[in-house]
Amino acid sequence: MAEHIKKEEIELQRSFIYKIKEINARYTNINGHPMKANTETYGCQQNENDTERIRGMLKEAGFDFCDDANDADVVVYNTCAVRENAEQKVFGRLGILKHIKESRPDMLIGICGCMVQQEHITEQIKKVHNHVDLIFGTHALYKFPELLYNAMVKNNKKSIVDITDSDGAIAEEIPILRDYSQKAWVSVMYGCNNFCSYCIVPYVRGRERSRDSKDIIAEIENLVANGCTEISLLGQNVNSYGKDLEENINFAKLLRMVNDIKGVERIRFMTSHPKDLSDELIDAMAECEKVCKQLHLPVQAGSNKVLSDMNRKYTKEDYLEKIKKVKEKIPNISLSTDIIVGFPTETNEDFLETIDVLKKVEYDNIFSFIYSRREGTPAAKLDFVLSEEEIHNNFNKLLEVQNEISKRKNDEYVGRIEKVLVDGVSKNNENTLSGRLESSKVVNFVGSEDLVGKYVDVRITEAHTWSLNGEIVK
Ligand code: 5AD
Ligand code: SF4
Repeated sequence: MAEHIKKEEIELQRSFIYKIKEINARYTNINGHPMKANTETYGCQQNENDTERIRGMLKEAGFDFCDDANDADVVVYNTCAVRENAEQKVFGRLGILKHIKESRPDMLIGICGCMVQQEHITEQIKKVHNHVDLIFGTHALYKFPELLYNAMVKNNKKSIVDITDSDGAIAEEIPILRDYSQKAWVSVMYGCNNFCSYCIVPYVRGRERSRDSKDIIAEIENLVANGCTEISLLGQNVNSYGKDLEENINFAKLLRMVNDIKGVERIRFMTSHPKDLSDELIDAMAECEKVCKQLHLPVQAGSNKVLSDMNRKYTKEDYLEKIKKVKEKIPNISLSTDIIVGFPTETNEDFLETIDVLKKVEYDNIFSFIYSRREGTPAAKLDFVLSEEEIHNNFNKLLEVQNEISKRKNDEYVGRIEKVLVDGVSKNNENTLSGRLESSKVVNFVGSEDLVGKYVDVRITEAHTWSLNGEIVK
């Protein structure tokens, strides 16, 4: 069973929140408003969810929030290490913050998440960006109040660093400030045991640990009591949920338990590893009426040689067989996937196998990435077969093929009436609302703001490659 952070430790962190709150109260007395925090998130939904926790702790400590780092007293960047470009963006932002801090030396800068869980990055930040006050890794998230308090009261320029690996003990009951009230991410497990040869995640997020089902259910019941209706269950590989628990449970059983919670209307989940997608889970998806008929199943590549070099533990044929089963049991399923183009050993012939998978599966959409070399992973030692130019050409070809499929799939929706959960008002037009269908497709339509958070019936009128237009059915 996964270790848990002790209740006393969580209480200790609470006491730091109160100490910061006192500092904030004194600041408010002098300035007429509390201190402001600015947060930015890079990477996946797990990171989005972690940032919601950071914002929850900041809110309890009395902070207001602002969108511009120029106005902030505390800036926290929650970073991603999966690809190099995400890291470059953070370094770019740190350069900008250096200038801001020159004119406002009291400003505190914190960097957390996967990127700083790598020692060479932390060393680089300490050396080159010594204006960063706080560096804490994925395992130290719950300690943020203590680290922030120490940064607020310190009287030297040394950065406070906590990137220890706590063996990934699970911390329950950290405050949270969610981005939406109608829909929420709920982590069911943390970490990953798969060690795909290109991927840094197992090194920065640690081994798989499942949360107790009673904690997950309690969190969802609490969300529902506060008006939330759509739950997205999160984990690097939700299909291995429960393997480390004493409880006789797996992800299929958990889905059924969530499906039984009164007030939940929609259940989504991600991500699933194809090797662990069981018949039991496909059955649960088909039978649970609240589970959205949508599946994200990363294939990564189509060539069996590349899949083997990636340590994915399935073949193209295994994958297509699973997809066939899913389509048979859930006829109107919407499918998506992740693809990596330009894995070191991938040839042009190998790449054509990926194109073949796209054409055979006909995904609704794909998330495609050019391979990025990650220090410390086995694939980092491999030489590239293709040139950068050839890889970019293949990447563009992939998008071309998929755009045509996505548009065709979206065209099938025109004329249909679909239930839509309204996410919010469009940034570009205040009369336009944006929401999601059961399949997770985005639809834009005219409507008033009071519909945000509600379900409405929308007739689809027009299809684009990435989204749909529609009109509310009276
Ligand atoms: N380079 C490019 N893409 C990667 N991913 C993971 N590691 C890398 C890497 N080194 C992609 C995979 C994964 C998604 C979250 O990110 O497709 O499914
Ligand atoms: Fe990375 Fe593979 Fe784990 Fe996904 S399953 S997080 S790609 S190691």
